[in-house]
Amino acid sequence: MGAGAIGCLYADALDRGGLQTSLILRHATDQQSVALIVEREGAKEQRYLNIANHQDLEPILHLLVTTKAFDVYAAVSGIAHRLNENSVIVLLVNGMGLAEQLNATYPHLNLYCATTTHGAYRIAPQHICHAGLGETRIGRQGLEQPPDWYGLWDDAIENCHWDANINTALWFKLAVNCIVNPLTALHHCPNGELATDRSLSDKVAHLCDEVSHICRAAGHADIADLLPQSVARVIRQTATNRSSMLQDVEHGRPTEIDYINGFLLQVAEQHGIAAPLNNELIQRVKNHAV
Ligand SMILES: NC(=O)c1ccc[n+]([C@@H]2O[C@H](COP(=O)([O-])OP(=O)(O)OC[C@H]3O[C@@H](n4cnc5c(N)ncnc54)[C@H](OP(=O)(O)O)[C@@H]3O)[C@@H](O)[C@H]2O)c1
Repeated sequence: MGAGAIGCLYADALDRGGLQTSLILRHATDQQSVALIVEREGAKEQRYLNIANHQDLEPILHLLVTTKAFDVYAAVSGIAHRLNENSVIVLLVNGMGLAEQLNATYPHLNLYCATTTHGAYRIAPQHICHAGLGETRIGRQGLEQPPDWYGLWDDAIENCHWDANINTALWFKLAVNCIVNPLTALHHCPNGELATDRSLSDKVAHLCDEVSHICRAAGHADIADLLPQSVARVIRQTATNRSSMLQDVEHGRPTEIDYINGFLLQVAEQHGIAAPLNNELIQRVKNHAV
């Protein structure tokens, strides 16, 4: 559910891996299937996937959620009647606080979280470009051994890992995104400029201090200690990338800032920590975006 860039990338991999995969689109359609096109390294592959019927009442066994963070709650609520305690739901969405939000209303849901470093963008509906290879981590905090279903996903998705400490992976991504995303969005620059432009690298350093302080208070001292080096590495490895928040701001689309810097700010408040830089970035990104 969420057949955008990442959703189509994973639907393609799962279906190719032999797991019969259907797309849940936002709006009802008379179409029963759709041609899904994935471009990578100049080659184009096409396969047909079923479209889930909006009238269908049958329980869903495995649901991969790949909407933007701000759409997750409404999207899952829209199909809650098809989910029960046997439904496996994997949230592959940037940002934090989503599982808690869903759990509060739907405590019976069987939720897992995932994070990816793959890069993809939409060319047209159900036509995407897989722009950067990466890895996928899936887990539920504290669940050491993967459940049975995971083996099939692991076979289908290249470079996929079960992560019993998924919270650390999510917090790491959150900490880096809190720095890279808003700064690139506000300064309209590719990631690499955060290292090469002196005034921007100073901002990165100050923001690293603030984010590290909050990570440490939240019990992630390991992430806090290495944050400046980790951010520098990500900026170097993704120097030519234009962050998703930058693209959202440029296209006048809503951003995921409430679930990234907004979540961090909530944690800071819970611990009585001032976070003026994050606060300012949130306001400025919101003034730029829809
Ligand atoms: N793209 C990347 O390279 C990348 C990399 C790492 C992580 N991520 C994260 O992955 C998540 C998805 O990103 P994305 O780039 O794939 O976004 P995207 O291209 O905007 O795709 C999101 C999709 O969700 C659909 N959607 C929204 N509400 C829905 C609903 N109620 N029911 C069904 N579908 C619904 C949207 O439909 P409409 O088309 O109708 O709006 C859209 O097709 C985000 O959290 C993003 O930060 C992305």
